[in-house]
Amino acid sequence: MTPPALPLSLLTRARAAASPQVTGVVTGAMGLTLTVDGIAAAVGDLVEINPATRPLLAEVVAVGRDRLTCMPLGTLSGVHAGAPVRATGMPLQVPVGEALLGRVLDGLGRPVDGGPPLASRVSWVDLASETPHALSRTRVEEPLTFGVRALDTLVPCGKGQRLGIFAGSGVGKSSLLAQITRGTDADVRVIGLIGERGREVREFLEENLGPEGMARTVVVVATSDEPPLVRLKAAFVATRIAEAFRDQGRDVLLLMDSITRTAMAQREVGLSAGEPPATRGYPPSVFAMMPQLLEKAGTGAVGSITGLYTVLVEGDDHNEPIADTARSILDGHIVLTRKLATVGHFPAIDVLESISRVATAVVPPPQMADAREIRRLMGALRDVKELIEIGAYQAGSDPLVDRARDLAPQIEAFLQQPMGESTPTPEAWAWLQRIVRS
Ligand SMILES: Nc1ncnc2c1ncn2[C@@H]1O[C@H](COP(=O)(O)OP(=O)(O)OP(=O)(O)O)[C@@H](O)[C@H]1O
Ligand SMILES: [Mg+2]
Repeated sequence: MTPPALPLSLLTRARAAASPQVTGVVTGAMGLTLTVDGIAAAVGDLVEINPATRPLLAEVVAVGRDRLTCMPLGTLSGVHAGAPVRATGMPLQVPVGEALLGRVLDGLGRPVDGGPPLASRVSWVDLASETPHALSRTRVEEPLTFGVRALDTLVPCGKGQRLGIFAGSGVGKSSLLAQITRGTDADVRVIGLIGERGREVREFLEENLGPEGMARTVVVVATSDEPPLVRLKAAFVATRIAEAFRDQGRDVLLLMDSITRTAMAQREVGLSAGEPPATRGYPPSVFAMMPQLLEKAGTGAVGSITGLYTVLVEGDDHNEPIADTARSILDGHIVLTRKLATVGHFPAIDVLESISRVATAVVPPPQMADAREIRRLMGALRDVKELIEIGAYQAGSDPLVDRARDLAPQIEAFLQQPMGESTPTPEAWAWLQRIVRS
């Protein structure tokens, strides 16, 4: 089967057709890299190996006097020394625009849902984009609704904020993302599924998201079996698509599952390019890539990209380097705990450990006071939990704890929310107020 043609705009097609064709040859392939002699190209450009027979795209990662080092965007098997190589003369082009809504794309931006070809319905842009300058960015001041009560009130998110969802494996990160995708009031949702299991992707699209969830959504998928460079690109492709919507003045919700697997893809790419492993096997390029990717989200001069990134904390170790780096870049974190998941408390959000750095900017003071009160009650209860469990707590010794114990069932009911349920924010605030004022 031949892979779909490289997406090109008419102009670039014409330019390529007008320029003289020079063919190079593959001179070696090892690990994830291959060397090409005989053609000139810039770092970041794409070349095509075996253009006439079994085309395989590769990206130029290093250039020498007359030799290119490239990384394939596909599998290298079957590529032999002497195979012809054509320079495409440009970097990867990404489709952007309205026609992408409802579509599922692969890591390089090619449709994989069997729908009509994108061709002229979309615009094509370079993957590389200008990150908005810090001073041209508007401030995060308006709330963005997720439809999840615990988040909208106690960990409120602002348009243009970037939040991490931190959790161990199987604690409900992907399910929470799906719930948010359906419940949010963002104009456009862009989902990047990076390095996930293939089986899960279908489940996510068909069961969790459903047709109504898909309508205002663009999905970019690179499963775990894809080459590392494709997985890495997928994260940037999803972000680039979100940026184009933002630049039209839209409020975009960008959901990335997961940033950890994106970092792992960068690790494979870095190590195979000869970088030394530095922190726990991660080469330095991983820690350079993360801010580059995450800084692209946020507000622009117009519009906003609210970024939600899942972070896998291995062995529930929240100080693992990727989690640590993500936490330092992002403007808030939602922590999911296994303790809650195992007792069937979903979404398993550990409210007291979760923080939104923009909460006070997006929530009016009276509601903020209610939220603070709930946190205070939950905190009081947490502090004496062990005493209560061993029967050492005397009722009446602390009025705050007594009140928290009385209200605990109501707070539980407020925090737990079935997958298929979405609560409008005013309703969530009214519910919270009833608990606090009872
Ligand atoms: N809101 C929910 N209601 C009921 N069950 C849930 C909910 N969220 C998660 N679960 C349960 O937890 C399981 C794992 O959820 P999910 O796949 O979302 O976790 P994850 O953190 O994304 O896992 P992984 O690390 O493997 O990607 C689900 O199969 C489901 O049984
Ligand atoms: Mg998951």
